[in-house]
Amino acid sequence: MIVSNVEYSDWRNMSECAVSLGEGINVLWGMNAQGKSNILEGIYYFARGRSFRGAKDRELIRFGCDFTRAKLAFRRDGYENDTTLEAVIPKTGKKHLSRNGAPLSSTSEMMGSFRAVLFCPAHLTMVTGGPLERRTFLDIAISQLSQSYLTYLRRYTKVLAERNMLLKNAASGTRVTETEWDVYARQLALYGSWISAYRAEYVTYLSEAVARYFDGMTGGRETPDLTYTSHGLTETMPTPLSNMAEEPTAAQDALYEKLTSNIDREIIVGSTLWGTHKDDIRLSLNGKEAKLYASQGQQRSIVLSIKLAEAEISKKIGGEYPAILLDDVFSELDDSRRNYILGSLDGRQIIVTSCEPDIIPSNKSGNITFRHVKDGEILEE
Ligand SMILES: Nc1ncnc2c1ncn2[C@@H]1O[C@H](COP(=O)(O)OP(=O)(O)OP(=O)(O)O)[C@@H](O)[C@H]1O
Ligand SMILES: [Mg+2]
Repeated sequence: MIVSNVEYSDWRNMSECAVSLGEGINVLWGMNAQGKSNILEGIYYFARGRSFRGAKDRELIRFGCDFTRAKLAFRRDGYENDTTLEAVIPKTGKKHLSRNGAPLSSTSEMMGSFRAVLFCPAHLTMVTGGPLERRTFLDIAISQLSQSYLTYLRRYTKVLAERNMLLKNAASGTRVTETEWDVYARQLALYGSWISAYRAEYVTYLSEAVARYFDGMTGGRETPDLTYTSHGLTETMPTPLSNMAEEPTAAQDALYEKLTSNIDREIIVGSTLWGTHKDDIRLSLNGKEAKLYASQGQQRSIVLSIKLAEAEISKKIGGEYPAILLDDVFSELDDSRRNYILGSLDGRQIIVTSCEPDIIPSNKSGNITFRHVKDGEILEE
């Protein structure tokens, strides 16, 4: 998958801006606050359906304007023509999404058609932050690969919120019947066991690929480990990303059992204590917890390796390499790590931002294009 072109109208600090991109390394460089990350934000919007900075849609509209528009053209492997995706976001009212000019009814309908992997410094919280950060990563990555996962996740989240409300109501005296508790436990166990199965399979691939990247970057001196932890795990788990046929029945039974045997405790706490909303990925380097012991460069290497692994898995499961967007990736990485990363991405399209144009080691040959970003525009040079 190759991004060919992106156009923006009143997107963040860009009034009108078009960026053409090609195969190989595309460097978007320029001083601070010129619009480099805004460009990546626009591209990634079409993979995720929202801003990667957690901004609300209307915050993407240029100050003082009534709406914004972004249009992405990308080429799928083996296709002759570009696919286009367009988003028009008004200040008030609904956004309009379309693919090749035909309206899309929802963000989920758009998800999966364009796939991208993004690294940005804020993602370092995957190592330094709490479990929610790591679950969010898994959810975004797997949702791009499987519509079913996205469906299970949405249902789980909705039922979980309802059950938590029920627990609070029960605490304040509302009578809840056995049947009601049972219905909620069954639904959460069903959706939750699928979610765990997807995540467990995903983390297995992730762990293997991250270990390989580290081996390459550090010549075997640093060994990372990623372990998925979940209430929804049983000894053997099905692998729904590669084989949808097998159902996680054992995990479902185990979760159901937990969700029906601790209700009194849960009423006191006022929230559901068991389930996939408590999952995590344990990250360690040379056997020590990465959050507490890894250096800044090592933490950055872990997150970057996870992102590159995400791209590999996307190819393995989805059949195509995603676009790779690297926002300010190379600071804090020494030359040998930079070289290894760039080498491992040889032949892929990468779009990378930087304050300096000289981030690419001088011995690196091949397709490298530089675009100078200034004040929301691409300077012709
Ligand atoms: N809705 C908006 N309307 C107009 N300008 C905006 C809007 N949102 C953000 N900006 C401005 O966009 C500018 C560029 O932001 P961006 O994050 O893309 O910079 P950058 O080139 O990536 O810089 P850095 O190198 O510091 O990361 C900022 O000055 C910011 O104030
Ligand atoms: Mg930036």
